[in-house]
Amino acid sequence: MRYLILSLLLLSGLAQAAEITAAEQASAKELAQATGCLSCHSLSEKIVGPAYANVAEKYKADPDAASGLVQSIQYGSKGKWGRIPMPAHSQLSADELKLLANWVLSIKK
Ligand code: HEC
Repeated sequence: MRYLILSLLLLSGLAQAAEITAAEQASAKELAQATGCLSCHSLSEKIVGPAYANVAEKYKADPDAASGLVQSIQYGSKGKWGRIPMPAHSQLSADELKLLANWVLSIKK
C-alpha cells in the first residue's frame, strides 16, 4: 500500500517536473550560457559534465530530482557521473537554481 501511494506521488511529481514554459526555457538557456554551464555541458553530448538529456533521463522517475539538482548545482557534485567533480555555483539565487534544475530535467534527447 505504501509502495502504491509512493508510486502515485512519483507519477504526479513527474508530470509537474516536466512542465516548463517556452519563455522559461529560453531564459534558462541564456542563464546557463552566461554562467558558464555550457562550457562543460551540452544538451545532448557529454563534454566535461554529462549531457543534460542524460541527466533528465536518469532522474525521470525521481520526484525529488529538482531539489537534488539544485543542491548539486549550488554546492557542486562529485561521484554521480564519473570522476570529474562539478564546482559549486554559490552566486546563483534560489530562483535561478530552480529554473536551471527544471530546465535540465525538461531536456529530451
Ligand atoms: C567545470 C565544469 C562544469 C561547469 C562549469 C558546470 N558543470 Fe555541471 N557538472 C559537471 C560535472 C563534471 C558533473 C558530474 C558530477 C558528478 O559526477 O557528480 C556535472 C553534473 C551536473 C548535473 C547533474 C548533477 C546530479 O546530481 O546528477 C547538473 C544538473 C549540472 N551539472 C548542471 C550544471 C549547471 C546548471 C551549471 C551552470 C550553473 C553547471 N552544471 C556547470 C561539470 C560542470
